[in-house]
Amino acid sequence: MAQTFEMKGRFMAFSEKCRIGMIGAGNVAQRHARVLSGFADVEIVGVTDVVAPAAEALATTLGAPAFPDAAGLLSLEPDAVYVCVPPFAHGHAEEAVLASGAALFVEKPIGVDLTVPTALAADIARRGTLTAVGHHWRYLDVVRSAAELLADRPVRLVNGVWWDKVPPVAWWVRSDRSGGPVVEQAAHVVDLARALVGDVRAVYAAGTGTPPPVPDADVDAATAATLIFASGAVGTVSSTCVLGWKQRAGLEILAEGLALFVGEDELVVRDSTGQERRIPGDPDAARVAVDRAFVDAVRGIGDDIRVPYAEALETHRVTCAIAESARTGQVVTLAAPAASPAASPAASPTASPAAVPAASPAAVPAGSAAPAGSAAPAVYAGRPATPATPTLTQPASGASPATIASPASAASPASSPASALPPMPAMPPMPAMPPMPSMPPVAPMPSAPPAPQAPPAAPWAPAPAGSTAPPEPGRPATPPIPAPRTAASPASDAQSAPAPPIPATRTEASPASDAQGAPAAATNPSTGDGGSADE
Ligand SMILES: NC(=O)c1ccc[n+]([C@@H]2O[C@H](COP(=O)([O-])OP(=O)(O)OC[C@H]3O[C@@H](n4cnc5c(N)ncnc54)[C@H](O)[C@@H]3O)[C@@H](O)[C@H]2O)c1
Repeated sequence: MAQTFEMKGRFMAFSEKCRIGMIGAGNVAQRHARVLSGFADVEIVGVTDVVAPAAEALATTLGAPAFPDAAGLLSLEPDAVYVCVPPFAHGHAEEAVLASGAALFVEKPIGVDLTVPTALAADIARRGTLTAVGHHWRYLDVVRSAAELLADRPVRLVNGVWWDKVPPVAWWVRSDRSGGPVVEQAAHVVDLARALVGDVRAVYAAGTGTPPPVPDADVDAATAATLIFASGAVGTVSSTCVLGWKQRAGLEILAEGLALFVGEDELVVRDSTGQERRIPGDPDAARVAVDRAFVDAVRGIGDDIRVPYAEALETHRVTCAIAESARTGQVVTLAAPAASPAASPAASPTASPAAVPAASPAAVPAGSAAPAGSAAPAVYAGRPATPATPTLTQPASGASPATIASPASAASPASSPASALPPMPAMPPMPAMPPMPSMPPVAPMPSAPPAPQAPPAAPWAPAPAGSTAPPEPGRPATPPIPAPRTAASPASDAQSAPAPPIPATRTEASPASDAQGAPAAATNPSTGDGGSADE
């Protein structure tokens, strides 16, 4: 008798294929289609894209039909659907897939802000839909090795970086379409930090306020963020897109007596032996593994989905908090997800079975300060319809930090500054240090002539917009500090961009596609790479 497995509530023979539909036919969809086509137990049944030629091109390579919309594709009753659309286009496609009963694979990031993802997460939880999100770094062998090395050592410091070029997709440089570089791209290292170090409780970030030198760009050319983890570890994440190449992307992790760098291509380990070991990574294997794990789960023969939708939402809350903090100049705290296990540092880079809580009725827009003297911080549930004017505010100046609440935990009355930022765990005692060897006597320094005293600078006081600091002798004048960006003045950003514009390698085809996203370019002529948004 043929062996069977259960899929979508019916028992199927193992000889039956998993039938998959594709929504979006751009760069990353092409990659998934290539991988899935290599699986003997998968059949790609159809493709749709708002740009019909893109759908037709991919469908032709797969020998499958192209459809003008998701409804046509879903009429084939696929077992699972991949949603590979740009960040701004998430929502309707997922809703249609969920209503069809198919399993759902979504590319990261799951939205430009928290509005659509929070609603979708609630719907997914209600329906119990099988989901996965394309955080394929969690499938890197080097991430597993890093987790093993960190298993018995508390992490103290983290430094995540994504220093790269502007990817060749037109929507990427617009914050309302991509969410900005941290949400869109550095999400991989933030997700890795969550997997290896645990949940993040607070962020404080700054952006350049000026865009990269690309036409129509309004995203920050660079962002730097400070992160406080629930475990007490601290860290930074920085992102820039001003290079013409990928300089570095990954995560440095410092634990007691151990330094790691985890990248897509390698793990670098240095411990108390002082020896540096380089362990090569295999990103292509991880890109296959993320699809294989999803297909196995859909077929009911595997259980290795490491980032279901609810887990991706937790990472997305952190990247949105960084974007929000850079926009407002405020510290943003993140309430603990009610149903998620406590911070899971180093325990496993694999699935965190976070349940999805219901939306919080208590949420107020970001940047809302609590009334003076109030103990409760503002609770952040997503980007406000009208963005608050960014202010450069000292954290200590009395402005209450905003809180990005996990939906269910936001409903909890425990959202107070004290509960949002848990007390630091007690540190284990440090081993006694060996006595310092005695140093040879040091010759006294010749006394230097007294330096002219500059008047003390007012701490945190930015120079007035447009002002120019007097040049130091022998140094060129410092360029004026740009005025903080406001939603109403993108032109001032463009004017202050120092470098000449780099022509965009992709343009959006038509007003219709402008609203929906551009068709995929097979290859970026300027870089020779595949043109994917974050490869
Ligand atoms: N996990 C990874 O390694 C990885 C790699 C690359 C890209 N990505 C992510 O994948 C997403 C897409 O990136 P990309 O490089 O493929 O972009 P892309 O612009 O090349 O492709 C997106 C496609 O979606 C189509 N589209 C837009 N709205 C649609 C809608 N409502 N319905 C159907 N199709 C629609 C566009 O016409 C376009 O063909 C981004 O969020 C990106 O971050 C992830």
